[in-house]
Amino acid sequence: MTEQYVAAIDQGTTSSRCIIFNRHGDVVALGQREHRQIFPRPGWVEHDAEEIWANVVAVVEEALAAGGLRRHQLAAVGITNQRETTVVWDRQTGQPVHHAIVWQDTRTDRLLRVLGGTEGQDRFRQRCGLPLATYFSGPKLRWLLDEIPGLRERAQRGEVLFGTMDTWLVWQLTGRHVTDVTNASRTMLMNLRTLDWDAETLDAMGIPAAMLPEIRSSAEVYGTATGPLAGVPVAAALGDQHAALFGQTCFDPGDVKGTYGTGAFLVLNTGTEPVVSTNGLLTTVGYQIGGQPAVYALEGSIAMAGSLVQWLRDNLGMITHAAEIEELASQVADNGGCYIVPAFSGLFAPHWRSDARGIIAGLTSYVTKAHLARAVLEATAWQTREVVDAMNSDSGIPLASLKVDGGMVANRLLNQILADVLDVEVVRPKVAETTCLGAAYAAGLAVGYWPDLDSLRANWQHDATWTPQIDAQVRDREYRNWTKAVRRTFGWVE
Ligand code: G3P
Repeated sequence: MTEQYVAAIDQGTTSSRCIIFNRHGDVVALGQREHRQIFPRPGWVEHDAEEIWANVVAVVEEALAAGGLRRHQLAAVGITNQRETTVVWDRQTGQPVHHAIVWQDTRTDRLLRVLGGTEGQDRFRQRCGLPLATYFSGPKLRWLLDEIPGLRERAQRGEVLFGTMDTWLVWQLTGRHVTDVTNASRTMLMNLRTLDWDAETLDAMGIPAAMLPEIRSSAEVYGTATGPLAGVPVAAALGDQHAALFGQTCFDPGDVKGTYGTGAFLVLNTGTEPVVSTNGLLTTVGYQIGGQPAVYALEGSIAMAGSLVQWLRDNLGMITHAAEIEELASQVADNGGCYIVPAFSGLFAPHWRSDARGIIAGLTSYVTKAHLARAVLEATAWQTREVVDAMNSDSGIPLASLKVDGGMVANRLLNQILADVLDVEVVRPKVAETTCLGAAYAAGLAVGYWPDLDSLRANWQHDATWTPQIDAQVRDREYRNWTKAVRRTFGWVE
């Protein structure tokens, strides 16, 4: 029999990738394509869902060709995706009715005040685990229903369908209209306890149930693919941060991972009961394997991490390649007194301030571009510190070490700054592609390619560890300055 593999499609914020893994969880082949970022107005971010689907087809073909593989050698494919990004399309033609509204988009800012009414930001938190914020899909969907003439009526008749990117891709691959519990838990529309759409929330947000996908577990066969993966079971879907939790084998309560991509996302496994945060974290579904109980998580979402490096490259032209930031920032020993708070889409966890906008504070004539580069990396670390403090308070158990992954952790200086700022060890695994790996693991479990969680744990391999080196007084002073800078971003948008 020919060797079998598992594929994962990662539909991310800036690119789509397909990675093929073997039984050890090693990367065998990869295809990747970027898609357009559409910025129609300040604060608005859109994607073309059809362009993304075309890219997904291309990257699947690229990965198969790169590995010299045929699709019948794939035991399953799993999907992982940028979460919350909202697409609505015509059931008959398959054509999107509008560009997808991306998770970073802040257009629903005013609508949130209407939806919160007298109860405010936490109106739906007990049901869905989330505060009202521009980040989530429900308000984005409501915006589309309000703004596109006739769309609500068509939705009520079931003529148009809603989905996050997992749903869009599973629909393209299998013709089934489904989502998984992790992606559904980012819409504000799913009840965390029943794991079904919440009728009261749908009513309050004015969203017709007829347009919503069926909610399924994260690891089961949703259907058999046609097109580029014809005949391959589509056997997993997880939001990318949930997939990274799974790929890092954070299967036990108390396990934490941090993924550093466009944004940064810390996720803490809290076991089979949802924990509602009192410190600005999100309650979310970590994953659900077939008919087993769902595993919940607390998440600290940071809107901008790697995207701040990209901004330095693309908008300021200070570097040519993102990786150059490490060398530039290494030219100085500290930030020269300057702090960058990247509240470009407001501030997410733990502040949830959609009225915040970015600032650079503490500028003097002494500051060079090397200091700015260092402040960019420190911004990611301090935002992580704020989230870790919230996790420690919510769980009562101080973080012992942080497993990191994602494109940005190739940057060794960032990992050192993280260890310094958090005062814990930072550990990087050999396979940093944990998002894809997690989706592949879930799909492989669903079809019996891997027998159980222990076989996945056995695949996890250590690559490098960073230990804290900074003086405690310096750390405390820097944290105070960071906090001062953060407060200055509040209330910028009226
Ligand atoms: O919630 C947004 C997140 O899923 C996006 O992840 O890796 O595309 O920045 P990424």
